[in-house]
Amino acid sequence: MAVHEVNHPLVKHKLGLMRQHDISTKDFRELASEVARLLTYEATKDLETEDETIAGWNGPVTVQRIKGKKITVVPILRAGLGMMDGVLDLIPSARVSVVGLYRDEETLQPVTYFEKLTSSMEDRTALILDPMLATGGSLVACVDMLKKAGCTSIRGLFLVAVPEGIERVSKAHPDVDIYIASVDERLNENGYIIPGLGDAGDKIFGTK
Ligand code: URA
Repeated sequence: MAVHEVNHPLVKHKLGLMRQHDISTKDFRELASEVARLLTYEATKDLETEDETIAGWNGPVTVQRIKGKKITVVPILRAGLGMMDGVLDLIPSARVSVVGLYRDEETLQPVTYFEKLTSSMEDRTALILDPMLATGGSLVACVDMLKKAGCTSIRGLFLVAVPEGIERVSKAHPDVDIYIASVDERLNENGYIIPGLGDAGDKIFGTK
């Protein structure tokens, strides 16, 4: 599995602003979108292009178009929705496949409560969105689901991750590449990333 920690100064600066303890909902939401946009730029760097000749202002001109698989964005409910607009800013025609997962308190296993994937998943590159890659349980379950639907090209975009989560996913799904704004230190005893961002869903939606 290729792990790309995006070390661009804009990414680091914006993520740093998101760590401020009293950040407003508006600012957190805007920054989540902005960082997602920058991660998208990185995560699509190697998409193949092909030449196409079109009628330009001065006659025929050969331009490049993105070739191959079409993209579906896969926000994991609910916090993943906070990254969706940023990604769609750059890939406005992407289809959206929404996935809802929760953790069963007894078995501690992720349970799917919502799944609405777009058509022809076998012909698409999936960009999974979740601000936090913590234990990796939801991501593994989401990738399982996408693969079951026939998807063979899967990437994940995260604001913050921890090494244990990355390791779990890389063992289960070594073919998935991930793009992260920051690899943080560790999980605390409640499953929160340290230093992290706190509860990303609450901060994006203004709940709690
Ligand atoms: N989910 C969050 O919102 N924050 C964490 O730190 C871990 C999981």
